[in-house]
Amino acid sequence: MRMAVVVLVVAVVVVLGCVAGGGAAEEGGEFAAVKAVVVDPAWRFPSARLRNAYVALQTWKQTAIFSDPKNLTADWVGPGVCNYTGVFCAPLPDDPRKVAVAGVDLNHGDVAGYLPPELGLLVDLALLHLNSNRFCGVVPATLRRLRRLHELDLSNNRFVGAFPAVVLELPALRFLDLRFNDFEGAVPPELFDLPLDAIFLNHNRLRFKLPDNFGNSPVSVIVLANNDFGGCLPASLGNMSATLNEIVLMDNGLNSCVPPEVGMLREVTVFDVSFNSLAGPLPPDVAGMRKVEQLDVAHNRLSGTVPEAVCDLPRLKNFTFSYNFFTGEPPSCARVVQADGDRRNCLPNRPAQRTPQQCAAFYALPPVNCAAFQCKPFFPSPPLPSPPPPAYPGPLPPVYPVPYASPPPPPLY
Ligand SMILES: *[C@@H]1O[C@H](CO)[C@@H](O)[C@H](O)[C@H]1NC(C)=O
Ligand SMILES: *[C@@H]1O[C@H](CO)[C@@H](O)[C@H](O)[C@H]1NC(C)=O
Ligand SMILES: *[C@@H]1O[C@H](CO)[C@@H](O)[C@H](O)[C@H]1NC(C)=O
Ligand SMILES: *[C@@H]1O[C@H](CO)[C@@H](O)[C@H](O)[C@H]1NC(C)=O
Repeated sequence: MRMAVVVLVVAVVVVLGCVAGGGAAEEGGEFAAVKAVVVDPAWRFPSARLRNAYVALQTWKQTAIFSDPKNLTADWVGPGVCNYTGVFCAPLPDDPRKVAVAGVDLNHGDVAGYLPPELGLLVDLALLHLNSNRFCGVVPATLRRLRRLHELDLSNNRFVGAFPAVVLELPALRFLDLRFNDFEGAVPPELFDLPLDAIFLNHNRLRFKLPDNFGNSPVSVIVLANNDFGGCLPASLGNMSATLNEIVLMDNGLNSCVPPEVGMLREVTVFDVSFNSLAGPLPPDVAGMRKVEQLDVAHNRLSGTVPEAVCDLPRLKNFTFSYNFFTGEPPSCARVVQADGDRRNCLPNRPAQRTPQQCAAFYALPPVNCAAFQCKPFFPSPPLPSPPPPAYPGPLPPVYPVPYASPPPPPLY
């Protein structure tokens, strides 16, 4: 009889976990389901931390994982949590004699379930990699207890609901990958004030304009594609000159001119603002991107002549500006423009251009007044030196791979 009651309670939590969200279980005390996991009193745990980790991982396995076709959690049995598949322990940075669970990596696990609030018991976690699984529901607010969490990869799952504001409360967070989920609504501007190194938000249902503090972000990589943001391509990008390496703002509905400040991005290697509504000329200042290799401004409403200095950029390998209204392409562009990279413009003597009628209709419109978009100007201030990266968790096995290589199966484009 008692068993039946327990099973019923678990079933309710399960439904709330993916429909109303895992947060529901937090209301009756943060870890309401803790009772569900039995800890054998005969077991000796090296520390209370590892006992808590046992409760967290067993609650996950027993109440919140519904399918595990690769049997990744099959060996999640008994008190030896450091031996569980996908669970990595490491000495604590401030007390190396003590071992704690520092990483959980179920990447490409195809596991279905949700994240129970008890995961907040893994207070020493530095890495949580759940890329390419079938986790659903919302991200539990109890994750704010993970004061050492450095990398959070929830990409390619079935998470829903508002942007998980809990990520704003994680002081050690540097790598945030939420792409390929169903998060919806706005992204809090505070995200761009955090000391993050990488942000991936593409392929969600997010909707917001890039805020004016966008350029405060010290990221080296940021991908916000396919989220229909709208608004200005912010001039504050100029504030990212020392740190930004790759930026993809593809298909965000950006509706402004290209601010000359983009030329301040002297470290950028990938710059992609394709599939937006950017208008006016491509400013010659773009030639300030001395390290750019991939440059994509295709599918916009850009006009005038392609600046020769851009095509002459020494490291440029692939410059794509198809589906615009350019009227001139300097000969030196031949080196960096791939076969189809200039199609559907208004270029004389180039194949596959727009019809003369389309070009005439476009150029009959009044010239673009960039000031009319009322984008906020940028006045640079001297940059602060960035802090050194934290040492924890040091020699852990799952060192995060290069962001562009690691992501989930669905391609970015
Ligand atoms: C997982 O375990 C089940 C039951 O033991 C087994 O039938 C199945 O083949 C295992 N799957 C894999 C991928 O090892
Ligand atoms: C973990 O596995 C190792 C090697 O198989 C074993 O010696 C050790 O006792 C296990 N630890 C725990 C806590 O189960
Ligand atoms: C540039 O970014 C820093 C934070 O990285 C911020 O404090 C500063 O106000 C920004 N400068 C401008 C002019 O936006
Ligand atoms: C060049 O860039 C375009 C658009 O970004 C891409 O579709 C194409 O595959 C790239 N070509 C090469 C050779 O890298």
